[in-house]
Amino acid sequence: MAQPVIHVLNGPNLNLLGVREPHIYGRETLADVQAICERAAEGAAVVFRQTNHEGQLIDWVQEARSQADALVINPAGYGHTSIALLDALKSLSIPVIECHLSNPAAREEFRRHTYVSLAASGVVSGFGPQSYHLAVQAALGLIRERGDAAARSPQT
Ligand code: DQA
Repeated sequence: MAQPVIHVLNGPNLNLLGVREPHIYGRETLADVQAICERAAEGAAVVFRQTNHEGQLIDWVQEARSQADALVINPAGYGHTSIALLDALKSLSIPVIECHLSNPAAREEFRRHTYVSLAASGVVSGFGPQSYHLAVQAALGLIRERGDAAARSPQT
């Protein structure tokens, strides 16, 4: 199997990681989180991006349709609001792992629902930056499973 490619997308305000509500999101920066993802990827290629703009996030999700073997996404606030982001994610046929630093289920009522979960293979939340480590590892596992399944039943 060629080297897998994992896209890691980060939504609004995550550029402020390390200074934004550190009691909730911790002191590590987004660059620290990127390094965690690269280490967790075990040699797979990681494309790591952040945007504050919903349309940009959707463009990157669409790009992942042809460029990625799996997608890890921390949609941040857009997870709770964006049907357009959900629609874009539903166009993917690769594994999608939703990832949060905090545990939104244990926070305010309005964070307890995310549209993204409807399109996700699984959700990792509440482990701080280690959520990304676990999400990338889950992505690798799902990519491998798919590769194994393809090897078992090759297309003719
Ligand atoms: C977050 C949780 C969201 O509710 C919030 O809007 C964020 C960050 C997290 O990583 O814990 O911006 O996605």
